[in-house]
Amino acid sequence: MNYINFRNLEDRNIQFSPRFNLFFGKNGQGKTSILEAIYFSATGKSFRTSKNIELIKYNRDKMGSYISYRDLISEKTLSVKLDKKNKEYKYNGKKTSFDEFYGKMNVVTFIPEDIELIVGSPAFRRSFFDAEIAQSNYEYFKNLKDFNKVLKIRNKYLKEKNTKDEVYSIYEDNFVKLAAKIIFKRIEYVKNISIILNLNYRKLFDSKKELSLKYESFIGEFKGLNLLKIEEKIREKIEKFKLQELRYGYSLVGPQRDDFKFLLNMKEAKSYSSQGEKKSIIFALKLSEIDMVIKEKKETPIFLIDDISSYFDSIRKDSIINYLKKRELQVFISSTTDLNIESKNFRIDKGEIQDGHYECE
Ligand SMILES: Nc1ncnc2c1ncn2[C@@H]1O[C@H](COP(=O)(O)OP(=O)(O)O)[C@@H](O)[C@H]1O
Ligand SMILES: [Mg+2]
Repeated sequence: MNYINFRNLEDRNIQFSPRFNLFFGKNGQGKTSILEAIYFSATGKSFRTSKNIELIKYNRDKMGSYISYRDLISEKTLSVKLDKKNKEYKYNGKKTSFDEFYGKMNVVTFIPEDIELIVGSPAFRRSFFDAEIAQSNYEYFKNLKDFNKVLKIRNKYLKEKNTKDEVYSIYEDNFVKLAAKIIFKRIEYVKNISIILNLNYRKLFDSKKELSLKYESFIGEFKGLNLLKIEEKIREKIEKFKLQELRYGYSLVGPQRDDFKFLLNMKEAKSYSSQGEKKSIIFALKLSEIDMVIKEKKETPIFLIDDISSYFDSIRKDSIINYLKKRELQVFISSTTDLNIESKNFRIDKGEIQDGHYECE
């Protein structure tokens, strides 16, 4: 991989190990930035910000990244060039759209902020699970995009109290169809990942507890519903909330209002689980994401873990590392302390990355 003008990092060309890669450094040196650079090269976006401009090194006006990787078939390349106005994505040297670029290489990340998935807002959870499903399902990605467009238009009609318009009924029909597809896929995804999540959690952290993920939809109970039945339910809800929607001037029904819940031993993790349990739940979730990508795409994602040493106590850290040693994954870990692991090591100091070990003080 190589990158130019990425945050505080000195431009570099780096060759990674197919197994473990460790980045050691003190705080503020660029550990998160190097993981972010890998993530950006692979996906065309950041896990820290939605504003690409922030990634460009201070006082520079453009930034670029290039990565080559092997999938099941052959060697592939991805590159991005970015300045304050334009973005250019290339796949195997050919220009492509972001939509085409995204999802080519599969990446799963674990960053301290991920705890927000438990304690944060429903919107945060929705956008996480949507991105996860979209990563291995292009149709979902497209449906979601279309849905968001139609939602905006529907809201505009509601705001203008213009729902008697003939064109509106076409939009509403579209809204219902896309909403149903999204809900249907979410139900299926949560059902599958919840089983894997429980297995991973018990294997890694606590074999005596049961962990599950629940999808909560505005349509209410959805057990056994097919796509058409879901559409029916949505239409019922629209009918029921019609007047209220007109009064508020925006959509009160739809998957943009749904949420996801983690339950540990049947109790909601958000309110009942300890800090350590919450972190462990999220780590198990990320491992389950890896399993889901392997299952759905038959490809193994790379795994980025930021700041493992400050985040987990030593028992959990050991358990995680022992687990990772047993899996055939390419892993990138940043840490402030040495880890007991056979790996390719990099030292980061003021954005400069050097091969070699970190001297513990
Ligand atoms: N666009 C940028 N250009 C230059 N430096 C940046 C940019 N964005 C952030 N930084 C700086 O990069 C440094 C490293 O940040 P970070 O990667 O988060 O460090 P670490 O994870 O090692 O604690 C910080 O001091 C931050 O202020
Ligand atoms: Mg950091």
